[in-house]
Amino acid sequence: MNHFLDIHKTDQADLHNMIDLAARMKADRAGLPKGRLDADNALDGRMVALIFEKPSTRTRVSFDVGIRQMGGQTMLLSGKDMQLGHGETIADTARVLSRYVDAIMIRTFDESVLLELAEYSDVPVINGLTDRTHPCQIMADLLTYQEHRGDIAGKKVVWSGDGNNVCASFLHAAGQFGFDFTFTGPEKLDPEAEFIGYARSKGVQVSIERDPFKAVEGADLVVTDTWVSMHDSQSTKERRHNLLRPYQVNDDLMAAAKDDALFMHCLPAHRGEEVTSSVMDGPQSVIFDEAENRLHAQKAVVRWCLGL
Ligand code: CP
Ligand code: NVA
Repeated sequence: MNHFLDIHKTDQADLHNMIDLAARMKADRAGLPKGRLDADNALDGRMVALIFEKPSTRTRVSFDVGIRQMGGQTMLLSGKDMQLGHGETIADTARVLSRYVDAIMIRTFDESVLLELAEYSDVPVINGLTDRTHPCQIMADLLTYQEHRGDIAGKKVVWSGDGNNVCASFLHAAGQFGFDFTFTGPEKLDPEAEFIGYARSKGVQVSIERDPFKAVEGADLVVTDTWVSMHDSQSTKERRHNLLRPYQVNDDLMAAAKDDALFMHCLPAHRGEEVTSSVMDGPQSVIFDEAENRLHAQKAVVRWCLGL
């Protein structure tokens, strides 16, 4: 049994194998109706709980469809309809759920909820986003990069904007997949030192450059995300927008990157804020491939968790 809690906590060879499996599974069902079962029925008889304490479109639908395609069953649970946070401990919730389901995916606020659930669960736990990280998203992004440009090792990835949870998982991936990472954004919104330190400890180059145009020089991939995440207070919105406006990904910024640089965004995006529509809908954008690849990448993650 394996938990999928974060990219830096997962064996490097296993991560690469999951990306390869995802690519094979995607190719195997190319052109099939979305609801058709995969030929090998790998999750036959398995039940997976999908718990959401925050809103979600992609994570919810991609896990649900992917598990069903593999012959498994899903149970969608909203955190507020459960006893979570109403006095029952996370540990007891983990022990109870382990008696009903074969795996648990959770999207939650505080990382400690994910970690406690994993500690006391007898079944695998998957991180579907916390305030600190979003590893499933980055597995999809790595698959997407590989499809478009091949191996990401040695490439230059530039994050422009808020050093948030998605940025953190990119830093973990930089360490595990061997790419260089440049953060450009306001100092107040830098990624946590722990994430930068982890990537550097793996021997990859991590730079912080306040000038976004200098930052994207030589970039193979430019990435951004919303300026206000689900865990950020709405009262900080105006301050965050003012700090982040210089880091908008627009045509001028993309023109300063390599000619064949890709653009990624985990979505949902706020058109005209962190990114312009012309970039989102332009030829360098692979945002909808990323969204599709949540499905394929997570199918591989679930199989790895269950040893299937
Ligand atoms: N990218 C992502 O996780 O999207 P959702 O919030 O819609 O799940
Ligand atoms: N950083 C965003 C990602 C959403 C998928 C958030 O946490 O709201």
